[in-house]
Amino acid sequence: MNILGINAYHGNASAAIICDGRLVAAVEEERFNRVKYAAGFPAQAIAYCLKEAGVQLAEIDHIAVPRNPYARLGTKLWYALRMPSFARGRAKVLAKFTGIREALASSFEIDPASISGEFHRVEHHQAHLASAFFVSPFEQAALLSADGLGDFASTMWGVGTGNRMKIEDAIAFPHSLGLYYTAVTQYLGFLKFGDEYKVMGLAAYGQPEQLEAFRDIVRFHANGGGKGFRLGLEYFVHHRTGPEMSWAEADKTPTLGKLFSERMVRKLGPVRAPEEALEQRHRNLAASLQARLEEVYLGMLRKLAERTKIKAVCLAGGVAFNCVANGKIFDNTPFEHVYVQPAAGDAGLAVGAAYYVWHQKLGKPRSFAMEDAYWGPEFSRAEVSATIDAKGLARNGYVVQGLPEEELARRAAQIIADGKILGWFQGRAEWGPRALGNRSIVADPRRGDMKDILNRRIKHREIFRPFAPSILAEKTGQWFERSHPSPFMTLAYAVRPEKRGQIPAPTHVDGTGRLQTVTREANPRYWRLIGAFEKLTGVPVVLNTSFNDNEPIVCQPEEALDCFQRTQMDALVLGDFLISRGQ
Ligand SMILES: [Fe+2]
Repeated sequence: MNILGINAYHGNASAAIICDGRLVAAVEEERFNRVKYAAGFPAQAIAYCLKEAGVQLAEIDHIAVPRNPYARLGTKLWYALRMPSFARGRAKVLAKFTGIREALASSFEIDPASISGEFHRVEHHQAHLASAFFVSPFEQAALLSADGLGDFASTMWGVGTGNRMKIEDAIAFPHSLGLYYTAVTQYLGFLKFGDEYKVMGLAAYGQPEQLEAFRDIVRFHANGGGKGFRLGLEYFVHHRTGPEMSWAEADKTPTLGKLFSERMVRKLGPVRAPEEALEQRHRNLAASLQARLEEVYLGMLRKLAERTKIKAVCLAGGVAFNCVANGKIFDNTPFEHVYVQPAAGDAGLAVGAAYYVWHQKLGKPRSFAMEDAYWGPEFSRAEVSATIDAKGLARNGYVVQGLPEEELARRAAQIIADGKILGWFQGRAEWGPRALGNRSIVADPRRGDMKDILNRRIKHREIFRPFAPSILAEKTGQWFERSHPSPFMTLAYAVRPEKRGQIPAPTHVDGTGRLQTVTREANPRYWRLIGAFEKLTGVPVVLNTSFNDNEPIVCQPEEALDCFQRTQMDALVLGDFLISRGQ
């Protein structure tokens, strides 16, 4: 049985396919159309999923869409009556969603009537929860989804047991931890979709001096006092103007309207314009924002743990990408096991909706756990070789060598240990926003100046943003204060104080690292590379950043070669080939 999950007309458009309960492919549309966080209809992602599964659209039995316009209809109507512009916006969205069959048919140039699969609407947060629990290794887990807004809710929680989820409760619009974080992110002058994660990085440079103010902006009573948090609505405008998410058809980049009110400005001081210099005041505000998020998020998790008495938790939604908060779960809640799938944000809804149908609707038993993130396109040795030939690299002064596995790892590790920057392109592309050793740029973690070098030569990111470490999973406890697996870079732990001097490049200013624990099973080639680096240096860690330069992560060999040639990367491993710049 084939189930296609489609996250369309929403940021992070994506598709996933499961065949008889096994995930076969999952990918974001941005990897194909090269627009970061692309919204719209994910036609290319769907085409890839069908190709990978070897099925035609007509052979799809169920089509799962993570959106249910009928969820919380009462609340929506209440707002629609007060905000005509909001009502118009919802009507437009609804029209788009009812047109998914037509969009599919026109993308694949077939008759809409030939799509025989049954359509299912899965509520946004239920799809989020399904995206985490049904692919987790847990038989039973507490579940929490938290994000900006989806189907008029921002937060949902419950319990998963076997092939069923039981939803306990939800928090509806306008109260939202995601919108809270976005509002302050905008106030701090970061206006792009996804900039919340930059502000999370900035927070480590400040002190939470304004925590009291933020306790008024988000209100939470850990000991009772309602079912969760509430926003101090006087600091916001979205409950009056509607949550305006739109995207320009031209480039399909999602944008969100202004969320904070003048009251927030009076409370926190002047707004920072995007081009204005960052001052300590801004860093302290970021730290306060983050500290309050952690209080509320960890407080909710504590309540969930106490109520359910379950030791495992699955997290999803954009807030679940807050790796700093996630890393604090073990010390601040009774939970002992945490699972956050690699696409915890809205891209993951495609997987969640599909598994929701398979388990919750069809009652099929569990048989799959997502233990690695490699669900995207891959390219054969012949395809890689043909791309290298087509680019004429050998004629243009580059040295191209096809090497056996062991030597490839050894040579690549030497390049890294020599302080050079290496592109590392292998196998299937990662699902989710993190490069996890298949579309990565790898560098020496021992060099304090590596962050600056990477930024200057390739990444061009804000200087306050940290780079992440990949570590051999079996060595985690020797280098970090925690050894719980973090295979998808969704948890940050403190680096052991005595080790911080040895890996300064991926250690953040607060002494933490957003680590990837690498096992031989999940990624044998990457594991071998890090092992070879350890043999040379005694350090089982490499710095890992995504293979891109202010664009979506590269997907095809051609994009990797373009990025390599365009930037000042020293060498590139493309499948079995080592490519270096000739001298
Ligand atoms: Fe979401």
